[in-house]
Amino acid sequence: MITSVAVLGSGLMGSGIAQTAAAAGFRTVVYDVVPLALDKSLAAVARSLAKFVEKGQYTVAQRDEVLSRLEFNPNLAAAAKADLIIEAVTEDLAVKNELWRSLDGIAPPSTIFASNTSSLPIAAMAAATRRPDRFVGLHFFNPVPLMPLVEVVRAVGTSRETVEAAFAFARQLSKEPVAARDTPGFIVNLLLVPYILDGIRAVERGVASTHDMTPVAAWWKNEAATVDDYFFQLKCAARRLDYETVTAKLFEPAVNGRRRWRPEIDSEEVFLWHLGIPAERAGDFLDLFRSTRFEREAFWKFLGLSGRVYPKPTPRFVQRVLEKANESASVFSVQLFQDWLATAGVMSKDPAADRINLPGTIGPQNWSYVSPLSLEELATWPGNRGILELNKRTGRA
Ligand SMILES: NC(=O)c1ccc[n+]([C@@H]2O[C@H](COP(=O)([O-])OP(=O)(O)OC[C@H]3O[C@@H](n4cnc5c(N)ncnc54)[C@H](O)[C@@H]3O)[C@@H](O)[C@H]2O)c1
Repeated sequence: MITSVAVLGSGLMGSGIAQTAAAAGFRTVVYDVVPLALDKSLAAVARSLAKFVEKGQYTVAQRDEVLSRLEFNPNLAAAAKADLIIEAVTEDLAVKNELWRSLDGIAPPSTIFASNTSSLPIAAMAAATRRPDRFVGLHFFNPVPLMPLVEVVRAVGTSRETVEAAFAFARQLSKEPVAARDTPGFIVNLLLVPYILDGIRAVERGVASTHDMTPVAAWWKNEAATVDDYFFQLKCAARRLDYETVTAKLFEPAVNGRRRWRPEIDSEEVFLWHLGIPAERAGDFLDLFRSTRFEREAFWKFLGLSGRVYPKPTPRFVQRVLEKANESASVFSVQLFQDWLATAGVMSKDPAADRINLPGTIGPQNWSYVSPLSLEELATWPGNRGILELNKRTGRA
């Protein structure tokens, strides 16, 4: 049974985890190798709590209770007394393992060790201790006090009891735990990283602007039912077709490297006639026509929408996309987050302001999503009610 918690590393994540544990009623010791980091952490927690008070979500007395459960202590021995130790130090295996080895020697054998790492194998840390059965991943998301998801990562040696204790702990924090295997990226980053990289590659190929690569609303408006111009040019070259002549007959002028079909190209016969290739030799061209020409109509039907297919993403359209995403029990993603904002019509007017990556750069910046609302504002934002209702209706709340 977990009654006390220690958090190692009092940076961005450590502070958030400690605040959340203390808010859930756990006595929480925070340890950092840099004493100044502890002062900063206390200030950060106090700032965050003040915002909750400002918004009326905590009383002053509740804030003081949370603070009274927190102990910022530069002595590792104090942290070693907790039932659960959550590590959120710098993402460096050698640094983390040195810490784990020291703690393994002083913490009681029953203590559960958990790492908040985003990218290191849990098993590589568990192996540095004599308690691989009581070693688990607890992957929180920033900002921890507001983000509901926690990935509980089971490594090869993690016991069932430890996983169960980690699940129970996450639920006590009012979080939503999901089970993940100890594989690179766990679940969320496994989905998110290729998604972001695909976006970057597509931007590099000039398929669309950075902004247009992200929200489904932009996909619907700019990409659905279009053909990649460069791709089509390559196809023409491979078949020795005159690209200029053929595209003039089949498509509207290219926009952002995408070409939309001319309205009169509305059947395979008309398409083949303009292409000048008999059906039996037009295999890949026919595939292209079939997969793109009526893509909007097909997607509209998939969403269960009837009536006229709107070329612009209406709130009803985005709402249905969200419902579909929820029905498929997909985990939280930046994409979904942006879709929520699109539904509420609060996406910024300046497309560059809402991007999740910066053009031409591959680095930590790409992880940042510039939201038009601060996360504190988002937590109390009226649009959340719609999302909560939607989650309830689709069984996720
Ligand atoms: N930033 C995110 O969005 C995010 C999300 C999920 C998980 N994570 C993971 O959380 C961990 C921490 O990330 P962060 O963003 O909070 O980093 P951070 O740089 O804000 O904080 C790291 C803290 O660890 C301290 N530290 C370094 N070595 C130490 C040691 N030997 N003993 C004690 N403290 C030590 C540093 O002084 C610093 O205060 C990393 O493993 C990271 O992968 C980060």
